[in-house]
This record gives sequence, structure tokens and C-alpha cells, in this order.
Amino acid sequence: MSADSFRSAPLGAAPIDPATLPRHIAVIMDGNGRWARQQGLERVAGHEEGAKSVRTVVRAARALGVRALTLFAFSEQNWGRPPLEVEALMRLLYRYVLEEHNEIMDNDIRLFAIGDLHRLPTFARVALKALMKLSAGNKSMTLCLALSYGGREDVVLAARALAEDVAAGRLAPEDIDETLFESRLSTGEMPPVDLMIRTSGEQRLSNFLLWQAAYAELFFTDEMWPDFRKPQLLEAIAAYQQRERRFGRTSAQLSDGES
Ligand code: FPP
Repeated sequence: MSADSFRSAPLGAAPIDPATLPRHIAVIMDGNGRWARQQGLERVAGHEEGAKSVRTVVRAARALGVRALTLFAFSEQNWGRPPLEVEALMRLLYRYVLEEHNEIMDNDIRLFAIGDLHRLPTFARVALKALMKLSAGNKSMTLCLALSYGGREDVVLAARALAEDVAAGRLAPEDIDETLFESRLSTGEMPPVDLMIRTSGEQRLSNFLLWQAAYAELFFTDEMWPDFRKPQLLEAIAAYQQRERRFGRTSAQLSDGES
């Protein structure tokens, strides 16, 4: 689907303005289990339906021209779930990577992953890393999967890397500023999060991209993740485009174009 067909897509009263798209959208994909229970299904069926939402949302974001999309697919804390559910999620990840190979390569998408990837089972890690390597030169959109990820852990690892550089004499403490710190986070070169979406009615960040989302606009919806598809993505972006992003300044400053 072309970006043009999105521009003209009816969406209540608010069409999408391609000039002010969020550059980086992050999603906390919540509610798979509750969706399944509502349908009288096992939790894993909710994750399977959730994987279909992943496919749809990636395709829609790419067609719109979003530069980066980060999906919270598995948190550091999710290892504590029942082993059978963890195993099902790892198999879903593996299947996703295999089945989306062509979609990712044909659409110039760079697949990237953040989190403690060493903890993933070998079959999933090997498949993931292979596609990450193959797609590393793709430029149109970065699809970043957060796997075994925690925002605090991300910040701690960045701090530790900087501390090691200082201890080794490669860096002076006074050289550490926000830009340098940010460059040591797992998200590296990705732009800061502009829009953070969470489904299922929960209104928390749950240790996701804590630094990177410092100025993100937050969009919470009651939809469960398996019901979150292209129309819901468009609704979230339209809501984002209604917000005034002040970054600590005043409305008057923004409308006067004062510096
Ligand atoms: C939260 O819902 C969702 C997860 C912990 C996993 C997200 C995984 C997917 C969407 C599918 C696989 C991902 C990829 C990238 C193929 P929950 O289980 O906490 O739902 P609940 O709060 O209703 O129990």
C-alpha cells in the first residue's frame, strides 16, 4: 500500500498529516491474554493473534513513512511467566522472523533488536541475528524488537560502559553529556521516541524505553493488542498530531517561533 492511500484515509475528522508523522513510535503490546480469555481461548492463542497485529502494524507504519518502530515483544520480567507460555512466545518470535523475511527485505526494513539477547533460546537468537545482519543496510524503516528488555537495565549498561571508559582513561567524566550517554543506550542511533502507545487500558510504562521516551507523547487505548490494527494505528497518530509538543517551553514561544 502506498503512503498516498493513507493520506486520504478517512479517520473520523482527522486525516494524517505526512509532514508531522512521529519519527519513532514505540508500542507496549498488552492484552493478548485477556483477549484470549474473552474469546474462551488459551493465552497462547492471544499471542498468536497478537503476532498478526505485529505484521499489520509494521506494514502500515512502513507505508506511512514512519522511520522507526519499536515493539515491546518480551520484557526482562516476562521470563517469570509459566515455561510453556515463554516457550510459545519464543516459537512465535522464531516463526515471525522466518515468515517475515521477504516482507522485511522487499520493503527495505532494517530489523534490529534490543535487550539481553543472550537469554533467548538458540533457535530464536540465530534466526533473529541472521535477519538482523542481512537487513542491516536497509534504510526505509527500522523495526526494533525489544526482547528480554528492561529500560532500567538499558540505562545501567550504558552507565557501566561509560564507567569502564573512564576507568581505562579513554574518557574524562566531564565529557559525559546527554548525547554521549544516549549513544551508549541499546537504541543507539535511533531517534527519540515521539509516540508511545499502550494497548489494553493499562496506563504504565512498565520499564520500557525510560530514557528514550522522556518527551514521548503517550497514547493509551482500551483495545487489546490483537484488536489493534491499521485503523487503530492511524487513530493513535492522528491523536499525536493534535498534541502540542512544547519540550518545556510555552505555547506562546512555539507560536511566535521565538528561540
Ligand atoms: C502482553 O500481553 C504481551 C506480551 C508479553 C507478548 C507480546 C507478544 C506478541 C504480540 C506476539 C509475538 C511477537 C512477535 C514480535 C512476533 P499479556 O500476555 O501480558 O496480556 P494480558 O495482560 O492480557 O495477560
